[in-house]
Amino acid sequence: MNRPTYRVTELLGDGIGDELSRAVHRLAESLPVLVEFVPVDLRVASRRARGMAIYDDAVASINETTVALKHPTATTEESPNAVLRRRLNLSVIHRPVYTIPGVPTNFRRELDLDIVRIATGGTYDDPGRMIGEDGAVSLRIVERGPVREAARYAFNLARKTNKTVTTASKYTIQKATDGLFEKVANEVGDQFPEVPHTIELFDALLGKVIMSPQKFQIVLVLNEYGDFLSDMACGLAGSLGIGASANLGFDAGAVVRVALFDAAHGTAPDIAGKNLANPTAIFLAFSMLLYQIGEIGLGQAVKNATLDLLREGVRTRDLGGEESTESFTKVVADEVARRLAARPRPHSGRADAEPPPSRATEFESADPSRPPTT
Ligand code: NAI
Repeated sequence: MNRPTYRVTELLGDGIGDELSRAVHRLAESLPVLVEFVPVDLRVASRRARGMAIYDDAVASINETTVALKHPTATTEESPNAVLRRRLNLSVIHRPVYTIPGVPTNFRRELDLDIVRIATGGTYDDPGRMIGEDGAVSLRIVERGPVREAARYAFNLARKTNKTVTTASKYTIQKATDGLFEKVANEVGDQFPEVPHTIELFDALLGKVIMSPQKFQIVLVLNEYGDFLSDMACGLAGSLGIGASANLGFDAGAVVRVALFDAAHGTAPDIAGKNLANPTAIFLAFSMLLYQIGEIGLGQAVKNATLDLLREGVRTRDLGGEESTESFTKVVADEVARRLAARPRPHSGRADAEPPPSRATEFESADPSRPPTT
């Protein structure tokens, strides 16, 4: 049988990077598609030997494969993340934040947010300036282009996953900037009439997420707001160390051109090479990558199998469990294969193509004793 093949640029990293790379390869082998990893070595030694030329290789490869998985890299002379963000014009960050059963948290409610953040502009691109001795100003920049890109991504994601979109800003006070943001988001939302869209004031949203987290699914926000909301949500979910994100670059038509997926944590030099690294975050990043290439069902299987196993107590040491990187990986890979074997292959297609006629509702139904995680 011919398996569909996908090429994925894999940016090799430092510390626990090699262990995570082996874990993802093992997981990919459990899928009914072929994932061909195209490696680019971003380890410190390679960066020092090749200088900035290594980024030319990385950018060329990512432009060709359009999707990349990045392992953590030590920040030395430069920050590889910052260089790649700039060189690939990755203007939007998609950060899912959800309660992970078994991960200790002070917050007792279930949270499942997809934060889509415009990663440029706002006040973050402006150095600000003093006015005399006692005053300072800062420019707040909102541009139609990045808002349109982020909105289109958010509404497309909502369409593919049957979720709602909330836009949040201070449009009543920041009438020009946040008013433009809401206007552009509305224009894009009009092209997705089947996606419910609500608008919140950002300060009210923070309270509401805490009081009624179940009311919010995909939240689209400007740069600073996304920064604040991500950290608050991570604090609530307690999942700072096992979070993952997508960094997105767009073409002139606001369609995703390249997408780079990575884990939030660093290179963990203290446990490198000891078979102790928790691969959960890179598995969740890989799951997002599968969604992006249109393999929604496979992405859901990877995410749900990983989270369900964590809930059942299959955990690495950092989460109080006994599993090693390798043993945890094997259990997840076997579980993904088991779930997928129980189902025929659902529809697949590119992320920006028309969505499947109905949502591929996961593989959990193969085993009713396992409730779906999301
Ligand atoms: P870190 O996230 O690497 O480590 C903090 C603590 O969390 C350590 O005790 C570590 O063992 C633990 N930890 C992190 N990931 C883990 C995993 N997957 N499984 C089990 N335990 C894990 O942060 P730190 O120590 O501040 O940074 C170390 C290096 O990583 C630095 O060179 C920094 O520049 C780099 N870094 C790279 C990032 C990236 O490439 N995206 C992000 C953050 C840091």
